[in-house]
Amino acid sequence: MTTVLEIRDLSKQFVKGDLGIVALRDLSLEIEEGAFVTVLGRSGCGKSTMLNMMSGLIPPSSGEVRFRDQKMAGPRTEVGYLTQSDTLMPWRDVSRNVEMPMEIRGVPAKERRERATDLIRRVGLTGFERHYPRELSGGMRRRASLARMLASGPEVLLLDEPFGALDAQLRSVLQAELLRLWQGSGETVVFVTHDIEEALLLGDRIVVLGRIGRVVLDREIDLRRPRDADELRVDAHFVALHKEMTEALREVR
Ligand SMILES: Nc1ncnc2c1ncn2[C@@H]1O[C@H](COP(=O)(O)OP(=O)(O)OP(=O)(O)O)[C@@H](O)[C@H]1O
Ligand SMILES: [Mg+2]
Repeated sequence: MTTVLEIRDLSKQFVKGDLGIVALRDLSLEIEEGAFVTVLGRSGCGKSTMLNMMSGLIPPSSGEVRFRDQKMAGPRTEVGYLTQSDTLMPWRDVSRNVEMPMEIRGVPAKERRERATDLIRRVGLTGFERHYPRELSGGMRRRASLARMLASGPEVLLLDEPFGALDAQLRSVLQAELLRLWQGSGETVVFVTHDIEEALLLGDRIVVLGRIGRVVLDREIDLRRPRDADELRVDAHFVALHKEMTEALREVR
């Protein structure tokens, strides 16, 4: 397998007044091409900080991020990032938000519009093209953000708790949509969550992070797809995996 994204001995320290806050220390991970990797960890363990660096948005204090064996010096179009908080432009409607990455790349208007229409359909927002972010529900905003991220045609998708604030039902709908978009696409996904069940339902591999990004557990998830939450909840192997994750998270502090 080819490694598409790699982090080596990554550390990040923030300075607040005369206080140094270590958010991440010596984290190393290799992400294989085409894999769906879920990253699980408690609040404050450094997950978003890790993605911020994987996306090239912030520089590491030490260590490095490599994309296809090249050192990352900043954001690149091959790596899409859906941040934990919404970053849709409030003055642009859904279509124009989705078109934005293509505008930046200078894609002609007609092609831009066609691709945006297709992406909006893929995330189930057809009919809402002219709506502004404030006129959408939280789940719809997440979907619009997902469409905008896909508009840059990324090879790697970094998703930071994309469905965290949503109700359980909508969450499972969006999980299924994401899997549908991913399957057969060849894209690589790094999906951060605090939710054990979500991590198990989605991932080929789970990485559990402890304090300051220590890898507590890194294992393959050998559950057959498609995975049905209701069936899995009574599946002995799933229950055992769930217990393993719960214990890994408990050991963390
Ligand atoms: N810009 C910043 N300045 C100072 N400290 C920061 C900054 N960003 C993050 N931190 C600190 O780094 C640590 C890790 O934060 P991070 O946001 O990566 O956690 P997280 O695992 O994503 O948490 P959550 O699950 O709540 O989103 C925290 O202690 C946080 O206070
Ligand atoms: Mg976070």
